Amino acid sequence: MDNLNRLQEHVVVIDFGAQYSQLIARRIRECNVYCEILPYDTPAEELAARKPKGIVLSGGPSSVYEEDAPHPDPRIFELGIPVLGICYGMQLMGYNLGGNVGPGDKREYGKTELKVVEGCDLFYGLDKQLIGWMSHGDSVKQTPEGFQVIARTANTSVAAMANPIRRLYAVQFHPEVVHTPKGKQILENFLYRVCECKGDWTMESFIKLAVEGIRRQVGKGKVILAMSGGVDSSAAAILIHKAIGDQLTSIFVDNGLLRKGEPETVAQTFRDKFGLKLVVVDAEDRFLNALAGVTDPEKKRNIIGREFVRIFEEEAAKLGDVDFLAQGTIYPDVIESGSKVAATIKSHHNVGGLPEDMKLQLVEPLRQLFKDEVRRVCEELGLPEEIAWRQPFPGPGLAVRIIGEVTKERLDVLREADAIVLEEIKNAGLYRSIWQAFAVLLAIRSVGVMGDARTYAHPIVLRAVTSDDAMTADWAKLPYELLERISNRIINEVKGVNRVLYDISSKPPATIEWE
Ligand code: XMP
Repeated sequence: MDNLNRLQEHVVVIDFGAQYSQLIARRIRECNVYCEILPYDTPAEELAARKPKGIVLSGGPSSVYEEDAPHPDPRIFELGIPVLGICYGMQLMGYNLGGNVGPGDKREYGKTELKVVEGCDLFYGLDKQLIGWMSHGDSVKQTPEGFQVIARTANTSVAAMANPIRRLYAVQFHPEVVHTPKGKQILENFLYRVCECKGDWTMESFIKLAVEGIRRQVGKGKVILAMSGGVDSSAAAILIHKAIGDQLTSIFVDNGLLRKGEPETVAQTFRDKFGLKLVVVDAEDRFLNALAGVTDPEKKRNIIGREFVRIFEEEAAKLGDVDFLAQGTIYPDVIESGSKVAATIKSHHNVGGLPEDMKLQLVEPLRQLFKDEVRRVCEELGLPEEIAWRQPFPGPGLAVRIIGEVTKERLDVLREADAIVLEEIKNAGLYRSIWQAFAVLLAIRSVGVMGDARTYAHPIVLRAVTSDDAMTADWAKLPYELLERISNRIINEVKGVNRVLYDISSKPPATIEWE
């Protein structure tokens, strides 16, 4: 599968530590050109061997003159491959090719008016006045030899530059962000007019290549997969099943910590509709026994992770002679695990994070895809909207949405409340635009009055956030009427709840989940 990029035309993004590198790659793929991110010190020989149609130098937080500033192999400009420098990438191009880079008189931040002063392929078909989203201190003061200025702003005399003969282009603004309204067209111009791409990256072409790749890798081998019912493991299962049919066995562990109706939907979709060999393990009692009396969030996570791995190993042993373990690893996981080690805020348990000592070879057909591409693959493969567009759900399930002890009774209360939240969010047409919406059950009790009687019951917290990648998140500004409806329904319909609160914390400093 790792030779996907060799089979397709592709472009590479060289990453200089920009928060936007992934976004650049996603935007390029949205233009139907396959794109991968490479570290800034990738040698020119490696790039030449990959034969990309174009190279994009990302932005980054550094200044080219700083001692530890990341620099590319300077020979990448000599490969005859078109290059587009963005922000810091532009400054690197200017600096490495003999121009002059320095701090501006004023920092430019936000939407900035650009004046195109020289027509060129990069701005083909666009007006002379453009809006570009800027975020920089330094800029190119003097272009390298052979370059011309192609755009200016009030504060930056070289806001974009080009050497069309060598096919080297650079922009100080960020074409990849939505705040640059014509950004996509600028990227398209680079890809199609400068790099002469054909645009053969579609989910249809991906599926074809992935199926061939899985068949080549697996041969006659036996594969197991842990099915969670989430988007990634679902897409992986259907794709692998398409490639090798019954050589794949999927294992779905019903840990009793799932949302209302979830185990039924998974069995119906994958076994009945798609004909997968699916083992459903009813392990509710086992998980609840292991969790009895436990209130510490990390302990809960560890117990659930441990039980899951044990069950999975037992099921694998029953199958016997398994050669491969399939996982729904996606591209952001690959990029992030290759970068710096973050502090453990929560020990994430993912159904992908399976036993290392099973010594199975990995089959990871989605390793190259971004989340939105996985959703499109799901649609292309005929998975229902309910799965293709499913919001993320943590591996430890509802256990980390129950503060305090996890019991069957408390799970049932939370499940009912959660189902109401999801139903109302869907009815309001907000399910796709909201990253996650769910209910949390607290351990405290408060006084209320129902009919003429006093109640003393638990509050439910409603949590709804917007986010692009779960690294940061904002609380969703849900309409008051919707909040009111959700609150009324939960209090009236869910026994044991007499109060609903709305969590208005952003991440950071809060996290999305409560535990
Ligand atoms: P936090 O709470 O850390 O969550 O802001 C970020 C995202 O990760 C999900 N999450 C998990 N996903 N296993 C998972 O697979 C886990 O243990 C886990 N914990 C949190 C969370 O739902 C959110 O999307």
